Amino acid sequence: MRYKTILTLSFLIANVFIMSAFMPQQEARKFTNLKVLPKDISGDDLNKIMDGYKTALGVKCNFCHAAGKADPKRLDFASDEKPEKNIARGMMKMTSKINKKYFHVKGAEAPNAVLAVNCISCHNGKAHPETAQ
Ligand code: HEC
Ligand code: HEC
Repeated sequence: MRYKTILTLSFLIANVFIMSAFMPQQEARKFTNLKVLPKDISGDDLNKIMDGYKTALGVKCNFCHAAGKADPKRLDFASDEKPEKNIARGMMKMTSKINKKYFHVKGAEAPNAVLAVNCISCHNGKAHPETAQ
């Protein structure tokens, strides 16, 4: 009986250690420079949105995101160094305004909102939508 209690206790203590080892990593995953999207957006929702921009404009992530200072092989997603990122922020606000004002989409800012007009409606796979002239 005693042996079993000690075993259970040590199992519990080990669990607490394992849990605390994983906690800080989850904290570090928080996004640090969101000015348009909800600050508490999930990683899944953010990835879906970013993948959508890639397809809508026919570009890669580095079209809007600058290379890291310490390791240029990795993108620094929080950096605002590339002007394209801020242009995209303006486009996000414009798109949500069009949906709210002219298409009466409720909650157009929500990450999973079904929008009437989206980036792809104008961009159609190109960074610069062409004009007819
Ligand atoms: C058309 C431009 C554009 C493209 C392409 C793009 N992003 Fe973004 N990304 C943005 C903008 C704008 C923000 C900031 C949104 C805000 O301020 O709410 C952002 C924010 C992020 C963030 C959050 C950074 C932080 O900590 O604040 C991550 C991570 C990210 N993007 C990853 C990606 C990945 C991965 C790809 C490629 C699959 C990608 N992005 C493609 C424009 C883009
Ligand atoms: C109503 C049409 C429309 C919608 C919707 C739209 N865009 Fe645009 N976007 C344009 C036009 C037109 C230009 C080109 C402006 C110019 O060349 O001066 C442009 C330019 C851009 C640029 C700059 C490209 C460059 O090479 O400098 C980015 C980045 C961009 N859009 C991102 C987005 C994203 C992300 C979305 C969705 C959130 C979006 N756009 C939605 C019409 C639109």
